[in-house]
Amino acid sequence: MKESLNKNLQNPMENIDDWEENLIDRYPDPEEPKKEKEAFRNYVDSERLDTVREFYKINHELQTYDFVCKKETEFLKFDRKEMSIWEAVDFLNTLVDDSDPDIDLDQLQHLLQTSEAIRADGHPDWFVLTGFIHDLGKILCLFGEPQWAVVGDTFPVGCAYSDKIVYPEFFKANPDYTDSRYNTKYGVYSPNCGLDNVKMSWGHDEYLYQIMKDYLPDPALYIIRYHSFYSQHRENDYTHLMNEKDVEMFEWVKAFNPYDLYSKAPVPPNAEELLPYYKDLVSKYLPETLKF
Ligand SMILES: [Fe+2]
Ligand SMILES: [Fe+2]
Repeated sequence: MKESLNKNLQNPMENIDDWEENLIDRYPDPEEPKKEKEAFRNYVDSERLDTVREFYKINHELQTYDFVCKKETEFLKFDRKEMSIWEAVDFLNTLVDDSDPDIDLDQLQHLLQTSEAIRADGHPDWFVLTGFIHDLGKILCLFGEPQWAVVGDTFPVGCAYSDKIVYPEFFKANPDYTDSRYNTKYGVYSPNCGLDNVKMSWGHDEYLYQIMKDYLPDPALYIIRYHSFYSQHRENDYTHLMNEKDVEMFEWVKAFNPYDLYSKAPVPPNAEELLPYYKDLVSKYLPETLKF
């Protein structure tokens, strides 16, 4: 009983993708006219907003520099599971939300909608592949990790938190907020030291990057590693830590973001029909199995 209570406190959102729904409210699609919502939807949305807010409260309090170091030691040994991309997709897809089957797509659908929208715009094949795999790191949830250590906007730790990060007031409860090693503009970093030298809050982005780093071209790796770094790719508030290469590569991160947020197709892609194309694509770039 106590354990399940603790689990619920750690996982306030009904579905980890509620965070992404909330992102669309924060950064609406400029091409989509504002829709009038029905009263019922408004009610559901406001309930959801409360849980997302609760989620960020925990996330901002607990994502410290030390916490990230601890998770790196724990997960970058990759000793949990060896899987092909297809096994990883199946595994991730066991994370379905049955509370709201009408609205929420399964994880494979989100991946395919993202990648198919990229493909439809004629982008290079590595970009399509990136769309297809970008959220596989969310299998961290299935390894028992709490929501606040898997999803949510990511941000640098080890230096002052930007007030452009959603709900910045919640950082006041983070011990690093008052730690003089970590609470100045540069903290443990130096001007334009490059993001490769900067620790980001721990989650699905960094985890998948570390798994993929030997196999994909740089722009793909930047997309995977920084796609939730909204305070930079949307708000440009950490340019002082970036080097020239980062600035150049972030054009790709920015190009990717609308596909991630706004690619919900009215007719969901047919996974079975698309499978042969994706099998070829995956085997062009990735080894048969990967260590997670
Ligand atoms: Fe993601
Ligand atoms: Fe995504």
